[in-house]
Amino acid sequence: MAWLVTGGAGYIGSHVARALIDDGHDVVVIDDLSSGHRAFVPNGAVFEEGSLLDPAFLKEAFARHDVAGVIHLAGFKYAGVSVEWPLHTYFQNVTGTGNLLAAMEAASVPAIVFSSSAAVYGNAAAEFVTESTPTSPESPYGESKLIGEWLIADQARATGLRHTSLRYFNVVGSGTPDVSDTSPHNLFPLVFDALKAGTTPKIFGTAYPTPDGSCVRDYVHVSDVAAAHVAAARKLQDGVELETVYNLGSGTGVSVRAIMTEMAAVTGRQFSPQICAARPGDPARIVASGQLARRDIDWAPRHSLRDMVSSAWIAAGQEAASSPSVSRSQTRNALFQGEQ
Ligand SMILES: NC(=O)c1ccc[n+]([C@@H]2O[C@H](COP(=O)([O-])OP(=O)(O)OC[C@H]3O[C@@H](n4cnc5c(N)ncnc54)[C@H](O)[C@@H]3O)[C@@H](O)[C@H]2O)c1
Repeated sequence: MAWLVTGGAGYIGSHVARALIDDGHDVVVIDDLSSGHRAFVPNGAVFEEGSLLDPAFLKEAFARHDVAGVIHLAGFKYAGVSVEWPLHTYFQNVTGTGNLLAAMEAASVPAIVFSSSAAVYGNAAAEFVTESTPTSPESPYGESKLIGEWLIADQARATGLRHTSLRYFNVVGSGTPDVSDTSPHNLFPLVFDALKAGTTPKIFGTAYPTPDGSCVRDYVHVSDVAAAHVAAARKLQDGVELETVYNLGSGTGVSVRAIMTEMAAVTGRQFSPQICAARPGDPARIVASGQLARRDIDWAPRHSLRDMVSSAWIAAGQEAASSPSVSRSQTRNALFQGEQ
């Protein structure tokens, strides 16, 4: 029996597929390569290229494999762009999830772990976001993720599907130098691209009510996020009933300025960020409690901020100034330390 990973050629899905293989599972990856990369699919996984928007492809893919459960990460993840492209976002994230659930029902697949997002909370004012913080998405992307959760919960109520949704916050770092976050919108790739191009990284807003005036976010290493999926999948496979949603938060906020200071230390490139106007709708602080995930799936983030920054820098093709003698293959082993 295999676990099927949708979006397994993407940044997070590739880490999830690797973590499942390392945990002894057979893995099938479905991906249309719209934002993923064939090379990110790990050795040992069976790759099925196709779209969740193609029900016939899904039916055939499920018929070809004996699937124990699905980890569903495929989707369109750009919240800002989703405001301009609401229909595209809904087709990918809502229609795609509906098609997947239909194919799972037809093939009698009993379990699903869904990749959800902090975007469902919108600009929550809570000191710590918990699973009972009211949802209030502020973009088609956040709305589409919340609808995805509802679709899965409703389907579970109707069919007995075992399920849970994991809400990620800021996923960063790399568990292997071969796979990096290639998003053109996330802080880490934006700063690294600026440093590589010799331009000055930007901070948007320095007058927030936070200790150093820049935004505070909850950063979690992608290998820790992947480990949570494996733990949830194992529980569901064992018939354990999980909560409908879990926040994958560290409980620790880190400011954008602090991230930049760490980046300067890791890269050996000193810089003073360019201060730009705050972006409309950017909340001052989003930090989540991961206590529920700790209680039910024994999950806790294990990687430090230094791990996150240095692994991301190395995966971006650069040598870390803080560990100049460490080769990329040695680093790969080091990066996996601390995983479950
Ligand atoms: N990166 C983050 O910080 C973050 C935070 C919260 C939630 N998420 C969610 O996690 C998931 C994975 O994110 P990521 O950062 O790895 O993004 P990504 O773009 O690297 O991965 C998404 C993968 O899904 C594939 N895909 C997209 N639409 C598809 C379709 N219709 N059929 C088949 N494959 C399709 C893409 O080709 C890509 O490989 C997404 O659902 C995203 O919304 C990410």
